[in-house]
Amino acid sequence: MTREVIRTRNFAADAADFILNQAQKAIDERNEFRIALSGGNTPRPVYARLATIARDLPWESIQISFSDERCVPPDDVQSNFRMARETLFVPAAIPEKSIMRMRGEIDPPIAAEEYEDHLDLLAKQRGEHAYQHDLILLGLGDDGHIASLFPDTVGLDETTRRVIANFVPKFNSWRLTFTFPLINHARQICFLVNAMEKGNVIERVLRGDPQLPASRVTPATGDVTWILSLLP
Ligand code: 6PG
Repeated sequence: MTREVIRTRNFAADAADFILNQAQKAIDERNEFRIALSGGNTPRPVYARLATIARDLPWESIQISFSDERCVPPDDVQSNFRMARETLFVPAAIPEKSIMRMRGEIDPPIAAEEYEDHLDLLAKQRGEHAYQHDLILLGLGDDGHIASLFPDTVGLDETTRRVIANFVPKFNSWRLTFTFPLINHARQICFLVNAMEKGNVIERVLRGDPQLPASRVTPATGDVTWILSLLP
């Protein structure tokens, strides 16, 4: 695993360029690109920028998944799918068949199982024992969470399932999330974080603070890139 930390005042442009380069590399090598989007707010300008520079990508050869989702309907303001739809899917006219939405509106364990089954089917169709993302985007919470793997939640200890429903006491709600087995199977991880807001927790993760879930993002053979915004 190699790690690169990029600090930039051109966050959206640099992050979008990084994603585009990863897409072109994967398509050149394997004729497809498997990306998992992060939720929250930080990625918004990145997705909007990507929509403007990546119109010519062969989106029909791209599989877009989500590293986590809130347990809400897709039109809910809290929905990560809604955020990605508004900033990327609609502006870039991405075909619906390229988008794998987590169904936050149904029973969480059932939604998690159906998503995992979908990934497993895609992997099986390619003779793989487990679905391998080319790129997983992750944000970073103030408490060091990634996806919806929050401190002191059961999901942190999942070693077999790739997608689970994880109850988050701090929100008193369920979330759908990738687990460390799936995340650490990726070819490339990219953290998208605002260093002006989360400088301290970033440094703790980069030092490997074991109390923080983000410190457990250690892909077996993949690389990790941090793209940090230096603008408020
Ligand atoms: C979510 C995200 C979550 C997010 C972090 C950072 O569903 O909220 O997946 O892990 O990336 O909480 O969120 P911000 O980018 O909004 O700070």
